[in-house]
Amino acid sequence: MAIPILFLRLAAKCWRNPALWPELRRMTVRYALGLHFLPARRARTRARQRERMEAERAEALAWCRERVIQPDELARRLAVPFAPADVEAAFPDAFREARARVAACPLEEFGGIVNGGAANLDLLYSLARAVDARSIVETGVAFGWSTLALLLAVGERDGAHVFSVDLPHCFNTPDRRWRDGDGWVGAAVPHALRKRWTVFMMADREGLPRALRAAAPVDLAHYASDLSPEGCAFGYAAIWRSLREGGAFIADAVERSPAFRRFAEDLGLDPVVVEGGDGGSGKYQGILFKQARHSPRANVATDA
Ligand SMILES: C[S@@+](CC[C@H](N)C(=O)[O-])C[C@H]1O[C@@H](n2cnc3c(N)ncnc32)[C@H](O)[C@@H]1O
Repeated sequence: MAIPILFLRLAAKCWRNPALWPELRRMTVRYALGLHFLPARRARTRARQRERMEAERAEALAWCRERVIQPDELARRLAVPFAPADVEAAFPDAFREARARVAACPLEEFGGIVNGGAANLDLLYSLARAVDARSIVETGVAFGWSTLALLLAVGERDGAHVFSVDLPHCFNTPDRRWRDGDGWVGAAVPHALRKRWTVFMMADREGLPRALRAAAPVDLAHYASDLSPEGCAFGYAAIWRSLREGGAFIADAVERSPAFRRFAEDLGLDPVVVEGGDGGSGKYQGILFKQARHSPRANVATDA
């Protein structure tokens, strides 16, 4: 009985914001479809789904481990002049203040289990500078560590702006503490940098097209939100269409499903894979550059 009550609470919270209704409808349909089955059949279906997911994850992880390169190889592999940088060492005060703000968050699970932790910040910062990014789109904000790194990278560049998409926190936390969650989205981002930041508080399906329209043509995009194969397929394709030629796309947590490998294969591109982000090892990022149509495989510099 707890689940319908949670839905009602969520609906009550969202009713004033029509941009959230489609996500609420998708959640309701998923839930109702689950109810349709008898408990025994439901358990069997879930077990089969879990098995398939685990097999897909194992395949994706093996692919990442096989392809991963060390950070010091990045400069040689990327098709742009790339100087790896440590963003926290470059902006110690900004990070100290951000940590203090984030530490004040009373919602234990906010940046952890539910939100999956921070992105590969040095990669985001260095790559944004390498492509001279001014127009950036990211999905998945949580505390906003990736947002902070991207805003620090664009600095005061003319017209620079970061457009982010994230669901209100109430969609993540199935208990009453979600009431206080929304204010913590992007807590790491200081007020001084917020004039260059717009966040679309809605699901990717609704928010990403809006963010991409506002940002187009996009210099750099970071995807770190819905990691289901369907979510990734939608998000990656939408981002790719709006990316400018020479722009860079970073997909976070590509070890979670074969979606990124399949996406790159469909484009006929050879992506770079690195390991990093919150927790250090075991989390991988895929990088793709959008090149002119006549040179589809010239995505990364050759080893020669
Ligand atoms: C791993 S966290 C992002 C971490 C962040 N990039 C950082 O570096 O701090 C993932 C975020 O994706 C968001 N998310 C998950 N599914 C989503 C969806 N379908 N649409 C929009 N946001 C979604 C969650 O709300 C969560 O805040």
